[in-house]
Amino acid sequence: MALIALGVTGGIGAYKAIEIARGLQQAGHDVVAIMTASAHQFVGRVTFEAITQRRVITDQFEPGANADIEHIALASDMAALVVAPATANIIGKLALGIADDFLTSLYLATRAPVLVAPAMNTNMFDHEAVVQNLATLRARGVHIVGPGEGYLACGWIGKGRLAEPADVVAATDAIVRPGASLAGHRILVTAGPTYEDLDPVRYLGNRSSGRMGLAVAAEAVRRGAQVVLVLGPSALDPPRGAEVVRIRSAAEMHEAVMTRAPEMDAVVMAAAVADYTVSGGAQPQKLSKQADRDERPLSVTLTRTADILADLGKWRADRARPMLVGFAAETHDVVARATAKLARKRVDLVVANDVSRSDAGFEVETNAAVLIDADGATPLPLQPKTELAAAILDRVEARLREAVDGAEPS
Ligand code: CTP
Repeated sequence: MALIALGVTGGIGAYKAIEIARGLQQAGHDVVAIMTASAHQFVGRVTFEAITQRRVITDQFEPGANADIEHIALASDMAALVVAPATANIIGKLALGIADDFLTSLYLATRAPVLVAPAMNTNMFDHEAVVQNLATLRARGVHIVGPGEGYLACGWIGKGRLAEPADVVAATDAIVRPGASLAGHRILVTAGPTYEDLDPVRYLGNRSSGRMGLAVAAEAVRRGAQVVLVLGPSALDPPRGAEVVRIRSAAEMHEAVMTRAPEMDAVVMAAAVADYTVSGGAQPQKLSKQADRDERPLSVTLTRTADILADLGKWRADRARPMLVGFAAETHDVVARATAKLARKRVDLVVANDVSRSDAGFEVETNAAVLIDADGATPLPLQPKTELAAAILDRVEARLREAVDGAEPS
């Protein structure tokens, strides 16, 4: 059981923090709630007091609570600080190190892991200021959970909804669980196909379900890592506790990965990225066959997309971080072709699949992979993708440990 400080700020999602407090308790944790001044506009302190069975901290200078300088005492006692909902205001203050109330002072005083669940209007979330502040927090190792998409209290539909309470609880639980072997590490995982649009209704895609990448992301969350999941169009639900960045095209995935890679300890490129996209981009209007009445075949010219993994390899060069993991979908000469990819793309590990088998690769739950790194090839048995995900992350862990052990003492 761990002591979790739950910071509640002034957003409409504040009522959901009650469910988060309950969820944390059900997971066996002790919760102390901290409310900012504006949180009181949305939810009452008595509710949190009744649920947590602890005094709710609302004021840094409350008489009777200063004998042991409460924010310093709590900062060292707690196992994690969870801010949910986190408004644009608190995200800005945390990013800048402003300490003008209990919650912001606690953030500066603690060395415990911090998890932030943003909730705000879509335009606010997309504002450059908020984007930069979240990037600052992420780079500092703060776990970002959500936000989700959907109907917002302001009437808009879009990104900005507080993550589901169960997701916040799962992410917090993974961080504080003893033996969380990837706690403190940041891992970016890509998953799913990319879609290259031909016109407003048609696209070029591939058969990837996203299952393999989602399994890696879920296992990384379970091991306590701070996970960013860059997810192409997939019908499957992303795992709880990961920060999900939805993209559609290879170009969007490229941008999402390259901007976040510098903050990561490892990047696992499980996505089936399109190798070609439509030259000149999608037609603005639907292509009509009537224009082609004489039944001539329709020709579409395709252009190569940028190879994200190769660009990562080039950018990372000989540095140890982030570790780079690629996948290779092969139909023949699996080991030889994947070994060539390891060198060509300058990555640390290639997970090679024989996609000509019906029980491995696309659209199935199992995979028979060969792990290939500088030391050679290790064939793995046919196993569920969840188990392969664990085997891949064991390699990532070993590599990250090596990088620490091999580091010069400062
Ligand atoms: N990949 C990528 N960007 C692309 C294409 C692929 O980052 N534009 C990544 C995939 O996510 C995967 C790895 O590269 O991790 C291998 O992709 P694959 O298509 O199997 O190999 P290629 O290098 O494209 O070679 P080929 O198509 O000749 O097999």
